Amino acid sequence: MQPSSRVAPALLSLASLGLALAGPAAAAELPATTAAVLAGGCVNCHGPDGRAQGAIPPIGGLDEGYLRARLLAFRDGRDAPGSVMTRLMKGHDTDQIEALAKWFARGGTR
Ligand code: HEC
Repeated sequence: MQPSSRVAPALLSLASLGLALAGPAAAAELPATTAAVLAGGCVNCHGPDGRAQGAIPPIGGLDEGYLRARLLAFRDGRDAPGSVMTRLMKGHDTDQIEALAKWFARGGTR
């Protein structure tokens, strides 16, 4: 047997283990590291720590309740319909929005 034909199945089972770990169990808890991952895409537009200086509003350090309300409104299409935020928040569940609101209210750090 070639060495590579023994390695491939092992890699395959590692890959499916990774998929299983990334399933619903991971979404339920949302530790700080997960909030950091969720927030990673936001800082492209909102700046490091959410403190953008340009046309896109800063979000770092805003009130947690305000952030939660706006993010939920974006997700539910009640705010700025058709904007980039409306489309983006559609992919987030309530737990994730909660984690993002906490994260940026604390200033975009854990
Ligand atoms: C592609 C650029 C882009 C990305 C990525 C992005 N945003 Fe935004 N965000 C915007 C723009 C543009 C607005 C202004 C929208 C409006 O009010 O019409 C905005 C507005 C907001 C507001 C309202 C700010 C205020 O002062 O009321 C919040 C909160 C917000 N974004 C949070 C987030 C979070 C959290 C993420 C990551 C999940 C994120 N944004 C990712 C572009 C972006």
